[in-house]
Amino acid sequence: MLNRAKAENIQNWIEKINTYNSTPEFGTTRVLFTEPEIAAREYVKDEMRKLGLAVREDSIGNIFGTLVGNNPELAPVWTGSHIDTVLNAGMFDGMAGVVGGMEALRLIKESGVNFDRSIEVIVYTSEEPTRFGLCCLGSRAMAGHLTLEDTKKLEDKDGKTLESVLKELGYNLNKFEDIPVKKGEVFAAVELHVEQNNKLEKKGLPVGIVKTICAPTNFTVEVTGCQSHAGGTSMEDRRDAYAASCEIALILEDLALKCSSEYNTATVGRVEVIPNAVNVIPGKVRFSIDIRDCEFETKVELIEELKKEIRKIEDKRGVQVKLINENNDIPMKCDATILNILRNSCEDKGIPYDVMISGAYHDSMFVGEFTPVAMVFVPSKNGISHSPEEWTDFKDIALGVDVLAKSLLELANKKEL
Ligand code: GLV
Ligand code: MN
Ligand code: MN
Repeated sequence: MLNRAKAENIQNWIEKINTYNSTPEFGTTRVLFTEPEIAAREYVKDEMRKLGLAVREDSIGNIFGTLVGNNPELAPVWTGSHIDTVLNAGMFDGMAGVVGGMEALRLIKESGVNFDRSIEVIVYTSEEPTRFGLCCLGSRAMAGHLTLEDTKKLEDKDGKTLESVLKELGYNLNKFEDIPVKKGEVFAAVELHVEQNNKLEKKGLPVGIVKTICAPTNFTVEVTGCQSHAGGTSMEDRRDAYAASCEIALILEDLALKCSSEYNTATVGRVEVIPNAVNVIPGKVRFSIDIRDCEFETKVELIEELKKEIRKIEDKRGVQVKLINENNDIPMKCDATILNILRNSCEDKGIPYDVMISGAYHDSMFVGEFTPVAMVFVPSKNGISHSPEEWTDFKDIALGVDVLAKSLLELANKKEL
């Protein structure tokens, strides 16, 4: 009934989006509401219109492209992902799910088959925390966890608030309260994404079905010691903020390795050493901690353990450690009925698959708070992502789209889950 997805459509869209890039010399950088990101948004909206989708945008810039069903008053089915990136990223993380959603809707439209519920492809605003330090801004606001008040507090590195940026771009902040989505307003959502791990590649499988999305807890850590002379201060007299930070990082790594949950990670990714000089003992260090887990409880336990260890390091090294919690998100369990629909779609299409956990977070983590969700993964070469080396074969994305399109169509004709 549905034709197979065309890898060349996916490739053309991804390559064109990739031309909107502020670091063409090293990977892809498309930060929220910078020139290339705004241009990419316009391009995607134009392409959605060319497909015959009705396009609208909410007050935080979430973009909706709607293929209208026979009963548009019914709750719609959603797909989609994001087009913003981390610094020096690749061209697939997020984009595969946006153009994959567009290709799925193209296939459904082309088939001429009837479907009741409208199907929408969404571009969620700023899944990456690159500009404002907080991830999933668009889907977080949809889930009611980012208010207009919050947008006044979120600042980028130049001290500009999200609120002021939205205002400058002409978003109607009087309608900010309309962003949250109530339960029942969306029927179901399925996001296609690159795996960002090497499990599918290792097993030689083209598709993954995600059962759980790990959620991050992020801290900014400020360690204060005593800035002093690197030669003049004896080893036993120093209060080295960097050595203390390293000890915290290694303890964190150890706790993550020992954690009993099925999948968890812990990362120190950003480090600022003050004053950052060869012959000065660092007096202050600021660094980030990113902890992920597929279970909330084990994540909380790990954090409690880490806090105890930090108190010991403070005593031992004579430093003060301030832990600033940025967010504490809850892992998302995908919906069992949608998982079955995805399994059946794979089997019908003869596409081998595996069921897996997503270590990365996705907008579906927040979308899942107001509607049942699941995800389709396609393989990442060598498991690499958030890097210029990120790669997924276009034909694998096309297989993921075949599964996605069939599943969206089935959901669009379902009365209940
Ligand atoms: C999303 O990009 C993540 O960091 O998981
Ligand atoms: Mn990402
Ligand atoms: Mn992503």
